[in-house]
Amino acid sequence: MKEIRITDKIWYVGTNDRRKELFENNWPLPYGVSYNSYLINDTKSALIDTVEAGSCNDYIEKILRILNGKPLDYLVINHLEPDHASMITAVRAAFPQVKLVGNCQTFKILQHYYKTDEESFLLVKDGDKLELGESSLQFVLVPWVHWPETMVTYEASTQTLFSCDAFGGFGTLDGGIFDTNNDFEGFYLSEMRRYYSNIVGKYSNMVQKALAKLQGVPVKMIAPSHGLIWNNPEKVISLYDKWSRYEAEKGVVIAYASMYGNTAQMADYIGNLIGSRGIPVRTFDVSKTHASYLLNEIWKYSGLVLGTCAYNTKMHPMMEHLCNEIDLSQPKEKKVALFGTSTWNGAGVKCLKKFAEEYAGFELMPTVAETFGSVSPEKVDEAVAAMVEELVSKL
Ligand code: FEO
Repeated sequence: MKEIRITDKIWYVGTNDRRKELFENNWPLPYGVSYNSYLINDTKSALIDTVEAGSCNDYIEKILRILNGKPLDYLVINHLEPDHASMITAVRAAFPQVKLVGNCQTFKILQHYYKTDEESFLLVKDGDKLELGESSLQFVLVPWVHWPETMVTYEASTQTLFSCDAFGGFGTLDGGIFDTNNDFEGFYLSEMRRYYSNIVGKYSNMVQKALAKLQGVPVKMIAPSHGLIWNNPEKVISLYDKWSRYEAEKGVVIAYASMYGNTAQMADYIGNLIGSRGIPVRTFDVSKTHASYLLNEIWKYSGLVLGTCAYNTKMHPMMEHLCNEIDLSQPKEKKVALFGTSTWNGAGVKCLKKFAEEYAGFELMPTVAETFGSVSPEKVDEAVAAMVEELVSKL
């Protein structure tokens, strides 16, 4: 992607990655991802984060073109995860005099990743400022959004917040790079919530702390490290506030694991019963739909129904995988019902129930619907009626 001037002194020098299959080698990227990096070209110059190594052939050339013979004075390291930091060595090679700007956590971690020398460090504390000319940077520490060293950088003259992972999303920037010239509702909203639920959601309490810290700061533009740049910051702030408070829409996600179709049949019976009340339902086979998308839907809706067949005295391994991803991502305040099928001793549902009872983010419905053998309307209607009533009354 060519460099793009976004204000008089701020340039977008990020890139799109459509080649990577899995973000963090776990989360599918069918629509790619962008690594956003910004260059402030004032009396002094500052690069805000880099991009993932290998994702951009001409990253250094873009910076050289904009600086046009001037040195690069600072590289601000808001976050050290390699999708933003793995070009640090290349930047230092191109601009040997550059000062690396970070907090004490940044430099602790940095030395485990890249060969650096302490003379190049410019250590900043929470609230410290760095004057570049007309532009003035202020650093705000927001630990655990999404690593312990993470900070955001505020540029006062344009009221721009370089927010790193916060307010980011999956999906490449295919045309315009701003929220105002893209189909947000039709495309980016879902990819952004998927990113939130997959990457940031576990740290929702820290997101709330970060939002509180930024309250009262005038922000005209939010420039994150992934996804759209926000000319309407209030919109993305309110979405992050909502997601990090676990505020969900009324609706139900049904996720099931089925070997021979009986648990799948039960899932549809349950879905039809809930849907007949006018409540939106989305149903997924966990062996087919990646947990990344399931977490997105789970974050969106207030209700969750999990179902499994029995498998070698446990729940189905793909349901176990989803339970593990739920535990890693920590969605909360979910109204949850369970169901399943088995052939002799019901071990699948027993294991699923144990997980659901121990997981703090679930309010579990007392009735667990379980059938043995093949599924028929008579068997299922009787088994699920009470469970559906309990769930619907809680949504
Ligand atoms: Fe986009 Fe936590 O890195």
